Amino acid sequence: MKRTLAKVLIAAPLLLVPVGALVLAGIVLAADAPAPAPTDMPAPAAAPRAAGEGPALPPSDVAAPAAENPASAPSDMTPQVDNLADKGKYLATAGNCISCHTRPGGAEFSGGVEFHTPFGLIHSTNITPDPETGIGKWTEADFIKAMHDGVAPGGRRLFPAFPYPAFTKVSDDDVKAIYHYLTTLKPVAYTPPANGMMFSSPARWGMIFWNALFHTSERYKTDTAQSAEWNRGAYLTEGLGHCSMCHTPRNVAGAEKQDEAYSGGEIMDKVGEGEGKIRKWAGVNLTPAKSGLGAWSVDDIAAYLNKGFASRHAGTWGPMTEVIVNSMRHLSVEDTKAMAVYIKNLPPREPAGGVAIAEDQTKAGAPVYKDRCSKCHMDSGRGGMFNGPPLVGSAIVQHADPASLINIIMYGANAPKEVSTGQWETMKALGEVMTDAEIAAVANYVRSSWGNTGRPVQAADVAKQR
Ligand code: HEC
Ligand code: HEC
Ligand code: HEC
Repeated sequence: MKRTLAKVLIAAPLLLVPVGALVLAGIVLAADAPAPAPTDMPAPAAAPRAAGEGPALPPSDVAAPAAENPASAPSDMTPQVDNLADKGKYLATAGNCISCHTRPGGAEFSGGVEFHTPFGLIHSTNITPDPETGIGKWTEADFIKAMHDGVAPGGRRLFPAFPYPAFTKVSDDDVKAIYHYLTTLKPVAYTPPANGMMFSSPARWGMIFWNALFHTSERYKTDTAQSAEWNRGAYLTEGLGHCSMCHTPRNVAGAEKQDEAYSGGEIMDKVGEGEGKIRKWAGVNLTPAKSGLGAWSVDDIAAYLNKGFASRHAGTWGPMTEVIVNSMRHLSVEDTKAMAVYIKNLPPREPAGGVAIAEDQTKAGAPVYKDRCSKCHMDSGRGGMFNGPPLVGSAIVQHADPASLINIIMYGANAPKEVSTGQWETMKALGEVMTDAEIAAVANYVRSSWGNTGRPVQAADVAKQR
């Protein structure tokens, strides 16, 4: 299983702005908070809703739901319910605890993963049941408080590099199952290195203000107007899946902007082979807008999450690889399908318009495309079964922030060995053989051809990703 390497969240450090400034920022930005429950969101355009259409459940689960509330308790739909530890393991997998809590070469769940930020370094903690260095002395109630409120025993405030703003949606029973599972792990004695000054103990008090402004501790509320499948998908996507962490833009204090949910976020993560280089990535628009997943069907999204390969659109290659390899592909087909149903029915969000790409910019990129890309993505941009995915309609290509597009051209796209991307060729790194100007030119070409749209890319944007 692939391990997390150094990873950076741009957002987390923002809470470290001196408290006064933060409070000011919070007042200015109060309109962004608090996070509305999914029930407050605009109703999806066409929610599929057929009676009895939910995932197949083990017979023990089919206990009649309350008649007046047919879509109640999406948290009751977890497979493998007969054994609490198995259930907890499944849910911990959905939350991808292992990726963020296992440093390269370290024991699983023992922490120490580095999150580099412009404000310094923060490490994930040891969540094995070691009494001294892990969570061995934590009670179930302590654990629930950390997951829902971001507060550890002794009132120690946690930073939202730990996605408690998403985990707060998870039901008490599911959090208890995860706790139970973690107590069955082998205790490992390990203390992560000290954090940078801005993530030191004194800075933790700043989180009181941040939480007051931006964090609402509340469980997922079933939307009775939606199907059980949609609710299950919403519960997993918003909660344990924490997809918004990388796919929703943030305000200056690092809190997600709920009115722009899933229209694209940004993270810092490694690029290319090796562990050294950390660059910006754009977590693309997941809403069914044209520049997002508009071209993907529910089955395409489900296949991508479940298998890492949706042949009609994309395979996994960037930061999504950990999400898929360590987490999503282990979920049941019903659960990834439910998430796909929820995602496909998000309100479409197109970022506010910018400058369009000029015709001469498109023309300048055409010969570069012909030379460097058309072999696999074809002149039509439609790709081919033995070549590569289509660039027509691609969210990576069209996203307002071109960081991920530049990264794939510069550093290539190696599919992880755990998933199969059919018979496609491998897209090699082209950064060494292409200049910044050429990469910008070809990026503009693919962003303005075949009906694609996007903002112009400059050579300076490319230089930043080197
Ligand atoms: C995106 C990365 C990420 C994911 C995913 C993640 N964590 Fe963490 N977690 C962190 C970081 C970073 C910290 C340290 C936060 C701090 O020091 O304030 C942390 C802290 C914690 C703590 C506090 C421990 C302590 O001793 O203070 C607990 C408990 C925890 N995580 C449990 C989990 C569980 C359970 C999951 C999966 C359901 C999970 N985490 C998923 C990054 C993550
Ligand atoms: C040798 C074949 C090959 C060449 C040449 C190639 N690619 Fe690719 N490209 C691929 C494959 C295969 C993938 C899918 C990678 C995966 O999913 O693992 C891909 C993926 C992509 C993606 C991501 C699509 C998505 O939505 O996920 C973009 C964007 C892209 N290529 C752009 C380009 C550009 C621009 C060029 C020329 C500068 C280029 N590629 C050259 C084979 C190629
Ligand atoms: C750690 C940050 C992170 C998390 C968490 C995350 N994503 Fe992503 N996602 C990205 C980035 C960065 C990209 C663009 C590069 C890539 O594909 O890896 C992306 C791309 C995607 C794509 C488009 C792939 C393509 O090639 O067109 C989909 C679909 C997607 N993510 C869905 C999800 C879903 C669903 C979740 C929650 C289960 C999720 N992501 C969680 C960072 C993340």
